[in-house]
Amino acid sequence: MNKLLITVISFGLAAGSLVAAEKVYLDQNAPLDQRVEDALSRMTLEEKVGILHAQSKFCSPGVKRLGIPELWTTDGPHGIRPEVLWDEWDQAGWTSDSCVAFPALTCLAASWDPSLALDYGKAIGEEALYRGKDILLGPGVNIYRTPLNGRNFEYMGEDPFLASKMCVPYIKGVQQNGVATCVKHFALNNHERNRHTTNVRVDDRALYEIYLPAFKAAVTEGDSWSIMGAYNLYDNQHLCHNKRFLCDILKGEWGYKGAVVSDWGGTHDTDEAIANGLDLEFGSWTNGLSNGASNAYDNYYLALPYLQRLREGKADTATLDDKVRRVLRLIFLTAMREGKGFGSQCSDEHYAAAREIGNGGIVLLKNDRRVLPIPAGKPLRILVVGENAVKMQTVGGGSSSLKVQREVSPLDGIREAFPMAQVEYARGYVGDVTGEYNGVVTGQDLKDDRSPAQLIAEAVEKAKTADYVVFVGGLNKSEGQDCEDSDRSGLELPYGQDAVIEALAAANPNLAVVNISGNAVAMPWVKSVPAIVQGWFLGSETGHSLGDVLSGKVNPSGKLPFTFPVRLSDVPAHALGDYLGKKRADEEIYDADYSEGILVGYRWYDTRKVKTLFPFGHGLSYTTFEYGKPTASASKMTADGEIEITVPVTNRGSVAGKEIVQLYITDVKSSLPRPVKELKGFRKVEIQPGETVNVTFTITPEELKYFDDSKHAWVAEPGKFKAHIAASAEDIKATLPFELSGK
Ligand code: GLC
Repeated sequence: MNKLLITVISFGLAAGSLVAAEKVYLDQNAPLDQRVEDALSRMTLEEKVGILHAQSKFCSPGVKRLGIPELWTTDGPHGIRPEVLWDEWDQAGWTSDSCVAFPALTCLAASWDPSLALDYGKAIGEEALYRGKDILLGPGVNIYRTPLNGRNFEYMGEDPFLASKMCVPYIKGVQQNGVATCVKHFALNNHERNRHTTNVRVDDRALYEIYLPAFKAAVTEGDSWSIMGAYNLYDNQHLCHNKRFLCDILKGEWGYKGAVVSDWGGTHDTDEAIANGLDLEFGSWTNGLSNGASNAYDNYYLALPYLQRLREGKADTATLDDKVRRVLRLIFLTAMREGKGFGSQCSDEHYAAAREIGNGGIVLLKNDRRVLPIPAGKPLRILVVGENAVKMQTVGGGSSSLKVQREVSPLDGIREAFPMAQVEYARGYVGDVTGEYNGVVTGQDLKDDRSPAQLIAEAVEKAKTADYVVFVGGLNKSEGQDCEDSDRSGLELPYGQDAVIEALAAANPNLAVVNISGNAVAMPWVKSVPAIVQGWFLGSETGHSLGDVLSGKVNPSGKLPFTFPVRLSDVPAHALGDYLGKKRADEEIYDADYSEGILVGYRWYDTRKVKTLFPFGHGLSYTTFEYGKPTASASKMTADGEIEITVPVTNRGSVAGKEIVQLYITDVKSSLPRPVKELKGFRKVEIQPGETVNVTFTITPEELKYFDDSKHAWVAEPGKFKAHIAASAEDIKATLPFELSGK
């Protein structure tokens, strides 16, 4: 009897729902908000709660009954992550999910080229669209506070103005594909050790002047349709449900209409998640990378616990509906977006974009005796040394790890760039011979049992008879070497590379060192090496970009998005104490005091007059640029006025090149302390040999403001200012005084 009854009832329900089947499709041209309200009005309480949390590792449910599709997220900022199993981190074993790995975002930032950022976003957005993804979990814009941070390679450097200007076009490029970005990790996630348990203490000036601007630009100028809360805490509240950050600042001061997504495992409390602005919960009870509770979705903080509070009248439906509106809006902008096309994957255009971004971001740090470029058309003997010349770097590093269709190694790229040369290889050192992340394997066998002495001897022997030696080393995205969920333990290069470099410098004067990393490294050998290139993690086209630059096919034009300090103790986060902060006696919480305040990066080195190895904004070219005398449209600006500064820049060399002209502003006298100067403008211009280009900057009171935390407002104080035209933070070409008048 029971079985029959149940059958009858379930049939009735099915029939009923067939009858009541409603589609939320309104007129596709209906205003977005109208479509959202229509869908919201049709949803049951259970359906509303259901779309606020994951149903698998990387997707959240839609509403089957109403024809609202699932929402699919994907890592990461440099390429589209390979498919994992529905409810596990392990590989799904697809054979159609290989991708193009684009250069790491530090490289994009180092290009100082917003047009490249747009190209980058467009291309990676097409790859995400082709793979059926709705949300790209990136870009990362956390400020570079310590060179030990394992994830700096995913971010855009130490300056909020540069990070802001470079993330916005990337976001627009991605979203023009109908794929949302999810700018991350909001906020104050500036190192990886204790990332789930660090409680950051920072003053409001540093918060508003240094750590928030790139996020604010991402959502107010880039219109990022979603944003990811960070793992750490602020004021003892996790950032994934932090009232001040998500309600007061993001949705209050900035008027954000998008959806707040938790980091994977970043949600810890139902009542806080309900009240403090979390809209979409993912990855609870995981460490965000490898392990975690399976099939826990109904128990998520915003799942049954939330539903129960609603049913008991302990949670209000207005808050629920606000969350649902944000998620529905995200769905209509992406998964239910009409006519968004189909994207593309591993196309020639994407490889070309990757190569162009790499070419535009590689930084020539030093080039004594013009060792570089190496002549490409001669039958030279070139020795390439170093594990990073052959080791794949697209596998590893944490959630941004990828399964690429191809990755051109530096050695292969150099061989291709110098077809007339005899290119030999020596290992030089042994670093990380593994090559696996989350089940993706490189397939490389890098095992080498020789001793460091033997490896150095072999390299030196070969170097003695080479015309040029190119050492390719640096870090490699293995744990503690630029990798998520771990920080480096020091500034030094690992694996005894310094000894190899010193030995090679003694063996051959034509030595170029290529440092592959997302962070500054110590260079004790800097005086004995004539040519140094900052190579970044360049992705699929690594070897092609390095070959292009080393051969002179491309004139390097990148400039550093962060400072290379001489030693770790020069870095403010380390000079003033332990960057990790202090562990509380009775609990697993680390209180990290950002005691340096607004003096992050060059702001510190300038103000404290600390010598650097290579300054922020530094980068050389194979040509030389001469800066002429700048002119200003006025020497005084009213509160609603502006001053135009124009500087002629001439290419005095024999090859075309791109120069990044920088504008820094000094507030001569301010009521509150300010850095010596701050970046407030930059232009990357291509200049032909002998050509002069006039570069113009417009300065308004906006560029003069600082955040007055006592007024909780941005203020431009009348008084004297200086405009510096510069080629780097330490290479000031000209300074123009001007004044902001009181009226
Ligand atoms: C990770 C990372 C985040 C990533 C997410 C999904 O822990 O912090 O950047 O997008 O979890 O993999």
